[in-house]
Amino acid sequence: MKVKILRQQHPHAEPYWQVFEYEGGKDASVAAVLDSLNYRDDIIDADGNPTDRISWECSCLQGMCGGCAMVINGVPRLACDTFLKDLKGDLLTIEPLRKFPVICDLVVDRGIIQENLKKMDAFIGEYHQDSEKNHELEYQIGRCLKCGLCLEVCPNYVKGEEFFGPLFANDSYFVASRSKGDKTKIKKEYEQHFAKGCSKSLACMRVCPVHISTLASMAGMNRGIRD
Ligand code: SF4
Ligand code: FES
Repeated sequence: MKVKILRQQHPHAEPYWQVFEYEGGKDASVAAVLDSLNYRDDIIDADGNPTDRISWECSCLQGMCGGCAMVINGVPRLACDTFLKDLKGDLLTIEPLRKFPVICDLVVDRGIIQENLKKMDAFIGEYHQDSEKNHELEYQIGRCLKCGLCLEVCPNYVKGEEFFGPLFANDSYFVASRSKGDKTKIKKEYEQHFAKGCSKSLACMRVCPVHISTLASMAGMNRGIRD
């Protein structure tokens, strides 16, 4: 099978496509394909030209760290959780996430996610225990990988602008719901950095690898969180 990868040598270099030949089975994940292309003595492209190892990021290889988020056959997904047998056709295309600056090949800088969380001050201080509550949504939100897939597909998210994207709606709900302190600030930040800019495409929910319902978070925030 042919594997076409959008490569970029450094943050200021021009991106270019390079094609590789993958000869393994279809049970492999995309992460395993990248590994098999990289771990040969000589890395060569499909035309037999020697080339550098393909840079990409991973840690857990089991859908838990979010490091391997990339665009696979045009869809933002986790490479370790995407299997060749589930993809159509005999060409696999892999690109870096485009809403984040590329560092090298498929490695991107997602630092903006943490920076924006800090700006919103989206952290739980003293924890509010409430046995009456349905904890399911909060548990779901707590599993957020900060992978950035939801920002990649969101039509309203543009790096550096005021709208911070779906994962901030979820974290706002989590903080507002669980924090014992004053909720005024988080409600205001939610309004300014999410509610005003969301056009409810809900594309975020289709790509989220841990199935977080941004819609449920929005409903929670809009219903009003008890102080
Ligand atoms: S909400 Fe889902 S898609 Fe968005 S960063 Fe969290 S885990 Fe990734
Ligand atoms: S390597 Fe951790 S989610 Fe894929």
